[in-house]
Amino acid sequence: MPDYMILINSENKIPEGFLDTVELVEVENPEGSRFCVEKKTYQAFLKLQADIRENHGLEIALLNSYRTLEAQQKAFDHYFYKFGLAYAEKYAARPGHSEHHTGFAIDVSFLRDGKLTHGAQELLELDDLFRIVQAKLHKYGFLLRYPKGKEEITKINYEPWHYRYIDSPEIAKEIWERGICFEEYRQQR
Ligand code: DAL
Ligand code: ZN
Repeated sequence: MPDYMILINSENKIPEGFLDTVELVEVENPEGSRFCVEKKTYQAFLKLQADIRENHGLEIALLNSYRTLEAQQKAFDHYFYKFGLAYAEKYAARPGHSEHHTGFAIDVSFLRDGKLTHGAQELLELDDLFRIVQAKLHKYGFLLRYPKGKEEITKINYEPWHYRYIDSPEIAKEIWERGICFEEYRQQR
């Protein structure tokens, strides 16, 4: 059983061998992109997706989940070449420091007219819709990993689309209701 409570951020790198404890499954999103997600994370996402569909009439889908070190470098470089270093550092972790390396992190988007919205700025414009999803996350064991107002602590800008599976709806609920971020929760333990 992997450590679903692992904290990965600019100060905490993914430990060597961590991936050996993780079961990844390959999935395909509605646009035909194929990538891996940790198994329980994906099962929990499917429940979240069904809830959002049935109760809110919205169709969410995955943009991305597990990333290799190389893929994380590409994600960082994408922002870096487009918007510069300061921007890249606020939206992408350095390789080795991303929780996308675990498969427990998912980037979610909305499917509208057969298309998913991509790009940080475009996704930020859908904040009202993301807020509906965010309120449901804890029920399925997910956290909003980079909340608004916690940028100084997480070192990452508000990402309404990035959710982190922790395999505990109880702890996820506590974190959500107290309005704290994962770093704050971990510091108090
Ligand atoms: N977007 C988050 C911070 C990552 O790159 O892991
Ligand atoms: Zn992400």
